[in-house]
Amino acid sequence: MSDLKGKVAIVTGAARGIGAAIAKKLAERGADIAVCDLKEEWCAETVAAVEAAGSKAVAVGVNVAVSAEVDACVKTVIEKLGKVDIMVNNAGITKDGLLMRMSDADWEAVLDVNLKGTFFFTRAVARPMMKNKAADGTQLGGSIINIASVVGIMGNAGQANYTASKGGVIALTKTTAKELGSRNIRCNAVAPGFIQSKMTDVLPEDVKKAYMDTIPLKRFGTADDIAKAVAWLAGDESSYVTGQILSVNGGMIG
Ligand code: NAI
Repeated sequence: MSDLKGKVAIVTGAARGIGAAIAKKLAERGADIAVCDLKEEWCAETVAAVEAAGSKAVAVGVNVAVSAEVDACVKTVIEKLGKVDIMVNNAGITKDGLLMRMSDADWEAVLDVNLKGTFFFTRAVARPMMKNKAADGTQLGGSIINIASVVGIMGNAGQANYTASKGGVIALTKTTAKELGSRNIRCNAVAPGFIQSKMTDVLPEDVKKAYMDTIPLKRFGTADDIAKAVAWLAGDESSYVTGQILSVNGGMIG
């Protein structure tokens, strides 16, 4: 499928994990990709994968929690790739701990990256996306996809900062859809469930089994499962979908 041919996507946290899988999937569908992560040099592997898929890639070092860096990143992407059609706010961190013992610093760090970072990039791409117009003046807009989490919907002990940040991302997604819809800019979130990753590989077997018991599809998700959902939200196949939270969790919660 090459439904994203001619489109430009920014993917944050794209050096590894789910972000890298998203960048590769969007490239396979034809989009050029700005591969963004904290350090430009961390992006090399993803850049190579995007190029192997036949798309253009630029690596940009950016801390999503710093608004000036985010604005500079979007400027660089427009200079190098010409425009922004698709924005994937994927960069995210955890700093888990019970809330009674959670430090101010751990609360702030997680909110800064997961929620403020998503806001900064959404604000920065809104105007460039408004300028995306067809030759006849039709508003082409864009598609913003935020990576939330199942725990942003249901809560999770030990993750006050993380769940609050992802709940905030869900509300921000709905507000963005309302504010920018008239310009044909859609905004949706993907809420992954338990995804196989370096983070989840280290969990004890009994914890993994307890999670598995709650998953009707009887397997953990993969980064590719998330990437496929993001690719659908990025393209015209989802042209009338906005303000939605797409759970990709094997049926873990309804
Ligand atoms: P990961 O830790 O493997 O990758 C996150 C990437 O974000 C890293 O490359 C990291 O360098 C980058 N990053 C961190 N802080 C940044 C900052 N301030 N500025 C720019 N880049 C930064 O994580 P993973 O598992 O791939 O998760 C990706 C997203 O999916 C996150 O938003 C996470 O919360 C979400 N998610 C993950 C789940 C899982 O089971 N792995 C489940 C639900 C949601």
